[in-house]
Amino acid sequence: MHHYTQGKPTRQAHKAIPEGFYEEEQGLKGFFGAVSHLIRKRPSTRWVDIDGHLKPRMYDLVTLKDCQFKKLLYNTDVGIYFHKLPVCSKQNKTSFRNADGDLIYFCHQGKGQVFTEYGVLDYKKGHYIVIPKCISHSIVCAEQSEFLVIENKTSHFEEPDRGVLGKNGLYDTNALTKPDLERQNGLINNVAQEFLSIQVKHNDQVTKFTYDECVYDVVGWKGDLYPFTLHVDHIMPIMSHRAHLPPSAHSTFVARNFVVCTFLPRPLESDSDALKVPFYHQNIDYDEVLFYHDGDFFSRDNLHSGMLSFHPAGFPHGPHPKAVKGVSKKTHTNEYAVMIDTRNPLTVSESISGVELKNYWESWKV
Ligand SMILES: [Fe+2]
Repeated sequence: MHHYTQGKPTRQAHKAIPEGFYEEEQGLKGFFGAVSHLIRKRPSTRWVDIDGHLKPRMYDLVTLKDCQFKKLLYNTDVGIYFHKLPVCSKQNKTSFRNADGDLIYFCHQGKGQVFTEYGVLDYKKGHYIVIPKCISHSIVCAEQSEFLVIENKTSHFEEPDRGVLGKNGLYDTNALTKPDLERQNGLINNVAQEFLSIQVKHNDQVTKFTYDECVYDVVGWKGDLYPFTLHVDHIMPIMSHRAHLPPSAHSTFVARNFVVCTFLPRPLESDSDALKVPFYHQNIDYDEVLFYHDGDFFSRDNLHSGMLSFHPAGFPHGPHPKAVKGVSKKTHTNEYAVMIDTRNPLTVSESISGVELKNYWESWKV
């Protein structure tokens, strides 16, 4: 279809929206496809009732109990888990190998080290730890740690296409921290860290392999397959000072049928007629999951760190009314959040229904 207009549209998306009206974006292919902008008298989030399963959902993961790899949401391409680990003790030295796909551990709280067949990686709050499929690893917590875990079941994580930004845009490849094998072997030898078993997850079933010597016995390696970390402080958010950019501008890792984005503190748009809160939209082809990591979540009311929202495709969403009113006094955002957008519908795990905020769908009421 070709571009067409009716009525009184705006010249530029997200700018000069007539006073008292609301812009809603309806777009395909996760902000890359055909798109239209509707100027409405009232926002589409003004529903007074929703009867059926298709509701916006909010979960408070802070209150989750017993969550080692607690499954939150999943489809055939991706599994999303919450994983809490205690300070490592000598009794729980085991290794984990995921034969069901690549893993990203996003560290929400805590610090420590990850031992891998390729060497040790340090982590702290705000680190993405990327562990390719079938690479054995052990998380050794120096502090109790919490992770949002993203499992890539049908492809491998890749860096987003930087296009006109050039190869140092978004984050420099030099910001990806590589494993240190020499230091790991020193640590294992010096403190007698013994890892004598590997638990392998395949088709969601775990098999334990036991050894009579430490499984981390590599003395050298070469190649372009290895685990690495990326800290949010080393991601350089892309922005335009003139018009709000879509979430896809904040892509951090891409995979087949889903994308991982990071929202980070940034200046707000400075043009006087620019929309400064996320626009009302229907990201028609994608389900959207947002994990609120840290900071002040400027587009939402009553949120705290450790909450997770799920906005399935099929209903429009946008900023909360209070955020729209409050944004005129702000010059910067101060939010840290991780978003996972999936091309295929997600299923919510039954195991988290107890931590759902059941009235979230009403939170757009003025
Ligand atoms: Fe959205």
